[in-house]
Amino acid sequence: MPIAPGATIGILGGGQLGRMTAMAAREMGFRLRVLDPDPACAARFLVDEQIVAGFDDTQAARRLAGACDVLTLEIEKIGTAGLRAAAELVPVRPDAAVLEVIQDRVAQKTWLDRTGFPVGAYKVGTTEGEIAAALVAFGRSFVKAARGGYDGRGQFEAESAADAPAAFKGLGGESCIVERALKIDREISVLVARTPSGQVAVYPPAENHHESRILAWSVLPARISPSLARRAEELARGVAEALAIEGLLCVEIFEIEGDLLIN
Ligand SMILES: Nc1ncnc2c1ncn2[C@@H]1O[C@H](COP(=O)(O)OP(=O)(O)O)[C@@H](O)[C@H]1O
Ligand SMILES: [Mg+2]
Repeated sequence: MPIAPGATIGILGGGQLGRMTAMAAREMGFRLRVLDPDPACAARFLVDEQIVAGFDDTQAARRLAGACDVLTLEIEKIGTAGLRAAAELVPVRPDAAVLEVIQDRVAQKTWLDRTGFPVGAYKVGTTEGEIAAALVAFGRSFVKAARGGYDGRGQFEAESAADAPAAFKGLGGESCIVERALKIDREISVLVARTPSGQVAVYPPAENHHESRILAWSVLPARISPSLARRAEELARGVAEALAIEGLLCVEIFEIEGDLLIN
């Protein structure tokens, strides 16, 4: 059933992306409610109501759903139990199953790899020993915690196996993914939108410059050849279709000597 202006859109998360979504939705005549733990979150003053609750608060997610016609999210660390509870009341897009793949770096990388998408060399490390073994195999690597972390947080740059104890402890002793350090020529990202009926819109690649692993600036469209842009767009479309995502997806891609690897 289409969600027409006048209906209420619920957003799990009220950060910058929630704020931008709210601004666009407001202009189209929708009402909005958000859930965010921060009472002063970025979307707060653009929405009709905020539920102040944690991203893992299943009851609160259900309460939000009960007051909305449709639910979406703006950050990947939303608890999937809450998403599933909310989906009993209203359509939730994207689906909890998509989020389960995306919010866990181990699940994400192994899914990409198994589904046939190009990724750099990686190993899963659940113990200090496994991390050490991966570092022996790879040399300089990025060790990333499976869960949480963004803007380079939740990561440890390791030079050799001697760094395994510090990496394991530093990342909280949880599951990690060890990625061989790549000589990246350029980082690009592609935004894709997919409807429930499977229509896909792919946006032109953005070129992203990171400083200290944090996005500093982007150039849109990326200064790359049309053929490389087309390959990046096809990769992003492929991921959206394989995930059968309903909503928006941003795919980060590394360009290395003309090859493309999904980050
Ligand atoms: N395997 C790698 N090799 C080289 N650089 C990497 C690698 N993984 C990450 N980086 C650098 O660190 C940045 C942040 O890593 P990323 O996995 O995208 O984490 P986040 O979720 O914080 O964006 C990347 O944009 C890239 O510049
Ligand atoms: Mg990134």
